[in-house]
Amino acid sequence: MKVATHQLRCTECGARIAGSAVNSIFRCPTCNGLYDVIYPWSSLPNGDTPASDSKLPNASALRWLWQERRTSTLSVDQSGVWRFRDLLPIIDDLDHVVTLREGNTPLYDLPRASKALGLNWVLAKHQGMNPTGSFKDTGMTAALSVARERGFEWVACASTGNTSAAMAAYAARAGLRSIVFIPEGKIAWGKLSQSMDYGALTVQLKTDFDGCVNVLTDLVNRFPIMLLNSVNPYRLEGQKTPAFELVEQLEWQVPEHIIVPGGNLANGSALAKGFSEMHHLGLISRVPKVSIIQAEGANPLYRSITENGGSFDNIPELIPVKANTRATAIRIGNPASWRKALRALRTTGGWCEQVFEQEIALAKAEIGSEGIGCEPASAVTLAGLKKLVAQGKIGAEERVVLILTGHTLKDSNYTIDYHRGELFTEEENAQISGSDQILHAALRKPPIVLEPDTDTVFRELESQMKLVHA
Ligand code: F0G
Repeated sequence: MKVATHQLRCTECGARIAGSAVNSIFRCPTCNGLYDVIYPWSSLPNGDTPASDSKLPNASALRWLWQERRTSTLSVDQSGVWRFRDLLPIIDDLDHVVTLREGNTPLYDLPRASKALGLNWVLAKHQGMNPTGSFKDTGMTAALSVARERGFEWVACASTGNTSAAMAAYAARAGLRSIVFIPEGKIAWGKLSQSMDYGALTVQLKTDFDGCVNVLTDLVNRFPIMLLNSVNPYRLEGQKTPAFELVEQLEWQVPEHIIVPGGNLANGSALAKGFSEMHHLGLISRVPKVSIIQAEGANPLYRSITENGGSFDNIPELIPVKANTRATAIRIGNPASWRKALRALRTTGGWCEQVFEQEIALAKAEIGSEGIGCEPASAVTLAGLKKLVAQGKIGAEERVVLILTGHTLKDSNYTIDYHRGELFTEEENAQISGSDQILHAALRKPPIVLEPDTDTVFRELESQMKLVHA
């Protein structure tokens, strides 16, 4: 692997720079655009390859190599990110790889959801099964490896909780120090506990995620600290690899639809980049539609597209919102990567939808009832899928993969409040349709508190079991 094999290309003005020449905020000094990592074999938006002497990696050889590495005992081969390292040559020396054996996440079928929606295939790629419980690990292994190779001693991020948990863990593995800015009181406890457990300097700011980003930007401008939010394009190189793993799990069949939650709006574009690279290299014959779903209370992309007449083109500026959703992971009003998200929607032919709090809770309970579970932000995928099916955008024969981004244990308070019937206000409960009320009632499983007396317990269980069989 050689650093010289990659460059950074501004997604706005197309300027190309060496990776080592990037500034501390990972933005183009000319136009403030974000960067993509490109390689000699990458395709450019006009379909050209950047270097005339670039040889495309051989698709069959790659498939074989990636399969072979599965049997290796080397940590770089056991990592579900670095196993695909031929398509992310971002570091010079593999000894700098920082890995917790991320990736290798399961692809589950969701038979009940498929049946309820009248679809043949609904699958869930569970990125919550990563070492720190979210998809962020696939990005952090990549970016922390670069930080280590470039000699950084400190890394930092602003986060709604998962980025910080992942960064803290990978920084600790790398022997680097980390600083986390999180919005006070607005992240799930499981995530807050992780950044402390992994030894980060955890700073709770009395603001929201967007306010945390402002402070972080000032910090990295003044000190030699590597910024690890998703504007860092190296993170996205790791986050593109679940696309490779997914099609490999499907024996190189390409699903028609991928559905992701949208927060800071980087992950959808990372996956789209992965699919497009595979397509360009002849590993797959077409790319799936990548759709992005936002919570209605944190919907700047959805709103900006809607106010632009539904078109993804020529949106001059994003309309930021004051974000508010119980899906705290995606409580973001002014997402950095919105232009990259639009590009992903445009190039793959996907859609952007919004879903309401009650719809998120129902979808989360449904995913839980399949024995899988996820955090609230991940459940927007199923809630969004229901909308896309109802709009006739997804047909029965089409294969859908939901990207479940976080583990259910990340936010157990939400789950407990839901099952106890304490999640919503009276007003919100009243907004739930009759048919959804029935679904909620069947899914809610509040704990029963009883005296420790066998007869009492048996009587209660008997009546509960009758209810189940009724
Ligand atoms: N799902 C989960 C569980 C997340 O934690 C996030 C983002 C997203 C979806 C959205 O991904 O930002 O690429 O659109 N969490 C960030 C964080 C912002 O700080 O943990 P995105």
